[in-house]
Amino acid sequence: MSQTPVLEVKKLKTSFFSSDGEVPAVDEISFSVGEGEVIGIVGESGCGKSVMSLSIMRLIPQPPGKIVSGEIRLKGVNLVDLSEKEMRQKRGNDVAMIFQEPMTSLNPLFTIGNQLTEAIRLHKKLSKKTAFARGVEMLQLVGLPRAKEMMSEYPHQLSGGMRQRVMIAMALSCDPQLLIADEPTTALDVTIQAQILSLMSDLNRKLKTSIIMITHDLGIVAELCERVIVMYAGKIIEEGSVEQIFRNPRHPYTVGLLQSVPDIQEKKERLYSIPGNVPKPGTIHLGCRFAARCEHAHERCTQENPPLYKTEEERHYVRCFLHDKGGSKND
Ligand SMILES: Nc1ncnc2c1ncn2[C@@H]1O[C@H](COP(=O)(O)OP(=O)(O)O)[C@@H](O)[C@H]1O
Ligand code: SF4
Ligand SMILES: [Mg+2]
Repeated sequence: MSQTPVLEVKKLKTSFFSSDGEVPAVDEISFSVGEGEVIGIVGESGCGKSVMSLSIMRLIPQPPGKIVSGEIRLKGVNLVDLSEKEMRQKRGNDVAMIFQEPMTSLNPLFTIGNQLTEAIRLHKKLSKKTAFARGVEMLQLVGLPRAKEMMSEYPHQLSGGMRQRVMIAMALSCDPQLLIADEPTTALDVTIQAQILSLMSDLNRKLKTSIIMITHDLGIVAELCERVIVMYAGKIIEEGSVEQIFRNPRHPYTVGLLQSVPDIQEKKERLYSIPGNVPKPGTIHLGCRFAARCEHAHERCTQENPPLYKTEEERHYVRCFLHDKGGSKND
């Protein structure tokens, strides 16, 4: 992996506004993704993973949502400043996203071929014939048999796993530098899930596409990613290499998450899960957001907001006072 960041997110804040006020679903998040790097973003449901990916794609419904502040730099260009027209050029061409349920992003009324060639022609000036050939090639690349026949089929004629492969083909058809996959395998059964993940890993190796893999499944992260970001209630609470996070997790929440991973060797679910729920964003203004569920919570935890501390390990950060060694902070 080279160190050139493809994506740099700086102090990104995305909020939803209602009569109850502002809910900061993504609250000043900063991270970067290198060329060809696969980064995992994990955290329980509601912690802001999808809002973050939709912010990068500039697909936050406004209103009620809004990117309030911060920067999203894709190869140096701040996406936050772009017009909708300019952003449409970026989507697909430079950054593409795969969603959890492919049926919602495929139009049931058009054939696969129609949708795939449209997507290709939207970004590349190709004849219909060339775009069709490129579509077939992409379906083959994602391991779909009978690619040519499939071009004239409709989404409902395919299985869930095949539809997800079509979505991946569509997302990759314009060679984006960055692919955001938001829980791309959650709706699929385990065997298909494994196939899709190994496909993404192959594509990353072959095409050097950087990938942000969003999941609540740490097993997927261990298999696919180099770095991990752990989110909690709209904030990054720990960041490090997969090795650092799995071998030596520092944040009490990460420790709990790892203990909740089903033990594959023993082939049984571990029963431990972290008691309590993620607080609604915006409800905790002072103190650590994890305090109500943390067995190590002490007085300071309810009186100050913990910054992201550097650990003694390179590029390993943790937002917890237990790791306050007198100052070195990352934000
Ligand atoms: N359309 C919306 N309107 C209002 N609030 C929203 C909307 N979408 C998300 N949110 C808020 O953002 C938070 C994070 O949601 P989301 O990013 O979807 O979580 P995750 O993907 O991690 O499960 C939610 O808890 C909710 O408070
Ligand atoms: S800052 Fe305090 S409450 Fe928060 S995780 Fe650390 S010990 Fe627990
Ligand atoms: Mg989500």
